[in-house]
Amino acid sequence: MGGQERIDKLVGEHAARLSERLQAHRQQLFPPDTRRSLRKFTSGEVAQLFGVTDAYLRRLHLDGRGPEPETGPGGRRLYSAEDIRALRELLEKGAKSPGTYLPGRRESEHLQVIAVINFKGGSGKTTTAAHLAQKLALDGYRVLGIDLDPQASFSALHGFQPEFDLLDGGTLYDAIRYEDPVPLREVIQKTYFTGLDVIPGNLDLMEFEHETPRILAARSGQFFFTRVGEKLAEVESDYDVVVIDCPPQLGFLTMSAMSAATAVLVTVHPQMLDVMSMCQFLLMTSNLLGVVADAGGDMSYDWLRYVVTRYEPGDGPQNQMVSFMRSLFGSHVLNHTVLKSTAISDAGITKQTLYEVDKSQFTRATYERAMESLNAVNAEIEDLIQAAWGRKEVR
Ligand SMILES: Nc1ncnc2c1ncn2[C@@H]1O[C@H](COP(=O)(O)OP(=O)(O)O)[C@@H](O)[C@H]1O
Ligand SMILES: [Mg+2]
Repeated sequence: MGGQERIDKLVGEHAARLSERLQAHRQQLFPPDTRRSLRKFTSGEVAQLFGVTDAYLRRLHLDGRGPEPETGPGGRRLYSAEDIRALRELLEKGAKSPGTYLPGRRESEHLQVIAVINFKGGSGKTTTAAHLAQKLALDGYRVLGIDLDPQASFSALHGFQPEFDLLDGGTLYDAIRYEDPVPLREVIQKTYFTGLDVIPGNLDLMEFEHETPRILAARSGQFFFTRVGEKLAEVESDYDVVVIDCPPQLGFLTMSAMSAATAVLVTVHPQMLDVMSMCQFLLMTSNLLGVVADAGGDMSYDWLRYVVTRYEPGDGPQNQMVSFMRSLFGSHVLNHTVLKSTAISDAGITKQTLYEVDKSQFTRATYERAMESLNAVNAEIEDLIQAAWGRKEVR
């Protein structure tokens, strides 16, 4: 081996170099002294969120009711996420039917746990999970987002760089490990996004995959698949919805998340290879979860939906693939799709979602088309959530 480099050393060096550059990149985007904060929302955006007119909001403001919005150029009113929350509380008091402006769960209703899965990387899991979690928060739900992927993209979108911010742990692993698990509250972080808390991820999560087989061999009766669900029970009263961004593999983490889940969202990019890979995924999921169910795991759920992601309506083969899925899975495929959009991928480059980015950097049509498609998908999911609480019929 004389003179040859060791692969572990080389890869380690590359990782260190890359991590340093990424850290610098983040400092540039979000300098440490300017804490990342959520942008303000125009009165038009807020009116749309509430399904009321801008004039109605203006009247509230002129009457001196509700929060005092910031006044921008040209007298435009700008609301912070806290203002939006305060408005919700005000409007809910006068609402004809309860839950119109504060749609979260009530006492008798169960915590919704939505697992976003597929073992194809790039199928849009993280993008879907992040936009869903943030939209739910904007719509007045109390949301917990969990990054279960050691690659930690969901965390990065919410301002965490895994190898810098989580040196002493702080992922879900700390709470679900078999030795000295910590209370779940210890790994939950508030975010700059009002209404959304996050449990970040990093490579520590891999430990659960390594430890579980050892534990299963040594101590029968230690059920790995209850780990996530039992932990969520500790914070149940703090949230309405939990969104779990799963790793692109069917390991113990994903299985434990699926046991905890009350709903499953399978993201799928409508191309032949992706759909073939999804077929393998579904087969494996069915087999493995069957085993878990036989061992006493909870496999009941409220709903399962496929969501078509990065869809290009002008692409013939993609259209065929979508029709094919609809013919096979019927109403299990969401009616709306997430369109492929440079607005979504460009926002991702600056570690933001479409709900956060400054829209002036896009042409209006590009931004609005992407926003419309995401909102439509998220609205369908919110209907499913409401239906699971028995408040609404879905189809
Ligand atoms: N609707 C979309 N339009 C454009 N780019 C998208 C869209 N959804 C995802 N992407 C991009 O595709 C890549 C993979 O998406 P991601 O959500 O990270 O997938 P996964 O979590 O399944 O690996 C990311 O770079 C993301 O920015
Ligand atoms: Mg991902």
